[in-house]
Amino acid sequence: MIRSFGLEKGKNIDFSLFLSQIMKDIRLGIVVLDREGRIQGISRIGCEWLGVEREEVENLTVEDAFPGFGYEHFLNRSILDGITVQDQAVSWRNGEIRYDFVVDSFVLHGLKGEILYGCYTFKNVSNLRGLEQKIERSDRLAMIGQIAAGTAHEIRNPLTSINGFLQMMGKTLEEKGMSKEKQFTDIMLREIKRINELVGEFLLLSRQKEVQYRLVDIDEVFNGILPIVESEALLHGIDVRIHKEDDSFLLVGDSELLKQVLLNISKNGIEAMGKGGVLTIELKKEEEGIEISISDTGTGIPPYLLDKIFDPFFTTKEEGTGLGLPVCHKIIHEMGGTIRVSSKGYGATFYLTFPH
Ligand SMILES: Nc1ncnc2c1ncn2[C@@H]1O[C@H](COP(=O)(O)OP(=O)(O)OP(=O)(O)O)[C@@H](O)[C@H]1O
Ligand SMILES: [Mg+2]
Repeated sequence: MIRSFGLEKGKNIDFSLFLSQIMKDIRLGIVVLDREGRIQGISRIGCEWLGVEREEVENLTVEDAFPGFGYEHFLNRSILDGITVQDQAVSWRNGEIRYDFVVDSFVLHGLKGEILYGCYTFKNVSNLRGLEQKIERSDRLAMIGQIAAGTAHEIRNPLTSINGFLQMMGKTLEEKGMSKEKQFTDIMLREIKRINELVGEFLLLSRQKEVQYRLVDIDEVFNGILPIVESEALLHGIDVRIHKEDDSFLLVGDSELLKQVLLNISKNGIEAMGKGGVLTIELKKEEEGIEISISDTGTGIPPYLLDKIFDPFFTTKEEGTGLGLPVCHKIIHEMGGTIRVSSKGYGATFYLTFPH
């Protein structure tokens, strides 16, 4: 037994010290139960992840100490009857933080083979899950990209001629005083514009590494988008505030794409506010690069949607396509930047960082 730990036989080892060090320092959640199913020990990191103090949970059953901790999966198959689990995925929310654990269990036998203790170990794999989701997302983006590349032009070409003929028709109808019919052509033209925009977004998603890398003056980008953002804001009684440090900021990227990113995110902010509110755009120089933050005082994003909003086609809006943020995500990553969002209670802030 001792050999299996790689320890020399006969060497005087204080096992209780060894065990208490393990419980204190190991980066693994460990919960030890006695034969009554009461918690007799829990590792320090386990307490931290589960959000409890050791003294609080000692002598409680797992069920009482951690209500909801994966019972439906495995806990009612009692470990104390010798039924153990391997690689069981369990999610746990500790306040604002969501953890994903992989849980194993085993039992410790006495000399006569009787069960003395049950033990659960759980490893925090939250980062791995995030990675997995990112890969899934970019796989999906690539797939949409392939479909888009194949069909976008085929859709656009006929649209261009329909658009042209409709405009001519509209003019004729107007000349003939058929104003009602003219309205129909206007509606059709608007709808065609919408399809064109959608196809444009598809094409953006499909383009691989087509960013035009140039030195971009952010002031220029801001001056390009502000009139559009402000007029949209004015329509909804929204105040736009710009904060920036005095110096001028330069970054390497594509100014047209950057404008699109800022417009998409500002538009989302305005849409989240409805009537009235404040949209704040802030520009800062941070150690890791240039940070642009865009905050609104709108509805906010509930925590369970935070990791969905960058998925293609995810939308909560009747008229939304759900492509705004995935397009932003792709553009920013191609420029070597990052995007993250924070939303607590109400309002949302999107933080974009770009290398200098
Ligand atoms: N500032 C924000 N406040 C609240 N919710 C937001 C905000 N920004 C994005 N969201 C949520 O994220 C979803 C996805 O946004 P995204 O821009 O990708 O698509 P959309 O705005 O719904 O449609 P589209 O941009 O294509 O018109 C939105 O439907 C909304 O639920
Ligand atoms: Mg949007």
